[in-house]
This record gives sequence, C-alpha cells and structure tokens, in this order.
Amino acid sequence: MRHLLSPLDFKVEELDELLNLASDIEKNPEKYKHACDGKKLATLFYEPSTRTRLSFESAMLSLGGNVLGFASADSSSASKGESVSDTIRIISCYADICAMRHPKEGAPTVAAEKSSIPVINAGDGGHQHPTQTLTDLMTIRSLKGHLDNLTIGLCGDLKFGRTVHSLINALVRYDNISFVLISPKELQLPDYIRQDVLEANNIPYKEVEQLETSMPELDILYMTRVQRERFFNEDDYVRLKDRYVLTKEKMQYANENMLILHPLPRVNEISVEVDDDPRAVYFKQVQYGVYVRMALILTLLNIKV
Ligand code: NCD
Repeated sequence: MRHLLSPLDFKVEELDELLNLASDIEKNPEKYKHACDGKKLATLFYEPSTRTRLSFESAMLSLGGNVLGFASADSSSASKGESVSDTIRIISCYADICAMRHPKEGAPTVAAEKSSIPVINAGDGGHQHPTQTLTDLMTIRSLKGHLDNLTIGLCGDLKFGRTVHSLINALVRYDNISFVLISPKELQLPDYIRQDVLEANNIPYKEVEQLETSMPELDILYMTRVQRERFFNEDDYVRLKDRYVLTKEKMQYANENMLILHPLPRVNEISVEVDDDPRAVYFKQVQYGVYVRMALILTLLNIKV
C-alpha cells in the first residue's frame, strides 16, 4: 500500500506518469467518470481549508466515488482527546483512502503507520504540502511545457510557507533549476531546506529582499501569503504582512512569459488588478489541482482506466 506524505514519495518518472494521467483526465473527463464507483474518500481536516478539502472532494465525486469527513478538529473526536493513530484506525473501517490536514508536523506520517488505507498528506503544520506541489508542477508543465530550465522566484513567507518547502523539494530534481528567494530577513527559508535541499543538491539560489529588481530574470513568480496562524506574536505579523504587494505597476518589470502562481488564499500580496494579466495563472492553478488529485486518487488506489 502506498501513501503520499512527502513530495519525494514519487520518483521523477512516477511523477511524470501521474502528470500525464492528470492531463489525460483534463482532456477526457468522461472516460474517468465511473473509475471510483463504490469507493470512499475520507477528508480529515484538523485545520481550516477551502481549496484543498473541496478539491479532494470534487476530485473523488468526478471519479464517481463518495466522500465523508470533517472540516475542523472541533467537530471531530480530537476535541475529546482521541489520538491521530486511533482516529485513522477507525477511518480505515469507513473509507478506502483518506486525505489529512493537521497543524502538527508529521501527523499524517504517524497516521500512515497505523492505517490500512492510503493516507495523503494534505498539509502538516509549516512542514510540507505535497498535493499543492503536484498542482504547482502540473500548472508549470501544462503552461510552460517543461519542468527543467527554469528560474523560479519564491516570494513572501518562506519560513512558514509549507507549499514553498514542498515545491523546492520537488523541483530540485529537474535539470537547470535555480531559485530567487524573496523575503524579509525574518521570513527566510528554514536552514533544513536551504542546506539539506538546495546546498546538498548544488542548486543555484540567491536570497534577496527586493521583489522588483529580481523580476526580470524570473520564469515563474510564486507568491505566498504571510502565514498569520504560525506566528508567535501578532505585532510581528502586522509588521510583515504587507511587505510584498504585486501590483500592475510592478508587473512591468516582469518578462512577457513570466507566470504568476499562488497556492491561495491570497490576502494582500497580489492586487486584484493583476488578475486580468494573462500571466496571472493562480485561478487556472486551482483547476489543475482537481485533475492532479483525481490522478493521485487513481494511482494510490491502483485503479487503471
Ligand atoms: C496553502 C496551505 O494551506 O498551506 N493553501 C492551500 O492549500 N492552497 C497556502 C496557504 O494557506 O497560504
């Protein structure tokens, strides 16, 4: 049995297969409409979510399957003190596959040890978010045509932003990738990613504080929100939250093929006037997220169509 706990759980060739499957689903959705008839997906969300939970549910429903679950820790037995290990044993009797989001780093891994169904990490604390990474990879591959030879700017909260951590982990496996890490000093990438992932793989990167001056060299600009819920102190959040705001005016520094991605939710970091720019693809990204989750469910359940 297979889980998806980290973006490295799939080898590059397996990822290629998964993204090919997701593209086929995009082109021929009818073909997959009954692929999961009779199967159930449980969504166990101990932390707020709109896109991730609903895109998993939408993915399973589009495959003909059913969904059950809870959307907050308060409405589950976690509020009575039940452990994740016990909960997953119970859920294993109710569903065929589950997606779990949890504020504690590593919780989905703990669950997977006791689970008799595939567990998908749908975000664990400030750690990883592998299905957002699959979404990001599909967006880049579909719109740029390749995942190699790219300069990627990551901007905003690189310290607590788990989507950034997962995306870096996944992208360093492709050829000729370099990163521009754009953040205030306080929100720089954690050492365990800088050293163990970037430096260990000899990936060129620079750390800068200015957004505009880095824009001309970027193929992708990945914007992120400042992760308020992971701050220890509200004053720090207030001081840093509006540090980067991408406006129409700043877009004149970008090259004409640069794509803007954002895992969403957006707060202030991209002004709404940018939404009409053809380079702004964060809403398309949401749609790719459904196809890639459909492909993931089929792959983990070992269903061939
Ligand atoms: C992200 C997350 O939950 O980490 N959202 C998402 O799943 N698309 C990004 C965020 O919350 O900022």
